[in-house]
Amino acid sequence: MRHLLDTRSLSRDDALRILDVAEDMADTQSREVKKLPALRGRTVVNLFFEDSTRTRISFEAAAKRLSADVINFSAKGSSVSKGESLQDTAQTLQAMGADAVVIRHGASGAPRTLATSGWISAGVVNAGDGTHEHPTQALLDAFTIRKRTFGDASRGRDLAGLRVAIVGDILHSRVARSNVWLLHTLGAEVTLVAPPTLVPQDVSHWPATVTFDLDEAIAGDPHALMMLRIQLERMNAAYFPTEREYSRRWGLDARRLAALSADSMVMHPGPMNRGLEISAEAADSARSTVLDQVANGVSVRMAALYLLLAGSGPDAAQNVTE
Ligand code: CP
Repeated sequence: MRHLLDTRSLSRDDALRILDVAEDMADTQSREVKKLPALRGRTVVNLFFEDSTRTRISFEAAAKRLSADVINFSAKGSSVSKGESLQDTAQTLQAMGADAVVIRHGASGAPRTLATSGWISAGVVNAGDGTHEHPTQALLDAFTIRKRTFGDASRGRDLAGLRVAIVGDILHSRVARSNVWLLHTLGAEVTLVAPPTLVPQDVSHWPATVTFDLDEAIAGDPHALMMLRIQLERMNAAYFPTEREYSRRWGLDARRLAALSADSMVMHPGPMNRGLEISAEAADSARSTVLDQVANGVSVRMAALYLLLAGSGPDAAQNVTE
């Protein structure tokens, strides 16, 4: 694996490989000593042009658990404010020895530009670009669904036969896009639930069905209900229903939580806006996988960095556990 830019171009085998190596990584995280020597001497740069809590810290934790050196760059407080370009910023960090660059950027396509421009030789991981994709979020979501469903029998399994409903601001959501492609590749049935104003125009080309009715989607008995944040920062307010209307029609409240099957899981990539798209009862319920998703994110990102930087030969997964 040279770069990880999206899930749309991941094959089923690629995706299962990452998820299975993440299982090995997760096993190592229950040990007393969590650190592995796999990436000793390698340098991972976190290059973040947009705010982040989970993704940036998770990549940092993942790289450190693999013994890599980590350099954290945040556009805020940097020479980006003086007009420095993405090319010059990236080449500056490459000159300091970056082997992998984990990039979050407001512009869709920025990670691909970095990976294909020839500006740098480091491997590139997309940590969220505009409204395009957030592949490691989708991988950790798939890992979480698989783990909750199949437990210790997860390795090698896809998600065939499982139903996942993704609810909310689909239009602006890179998490939704990455999940739709990955879940489809892994055999799951995906339903998108959103206000009509928050459905992308090209959705008919996506491998998913669309409904505007959350209660109808819940009646379809989804194995996982994935609630999304309303991305007000990317939105023209005129397109958005009022918060009150949104919460009433598309929010996961106590009534809808009670209507879900006992074994349905409630997911959210974070950050959550409690009281808008998800109630406190739902976020804190036993069905909520929110903190599992965070914990699994470290294992999945360890797997991604490992496969990027330490080789992906047939014995790679075995090496992880040695
Ligand atoms: N899920 C996610 O990307 O969260 P952050 O924005 O906090 O990284």
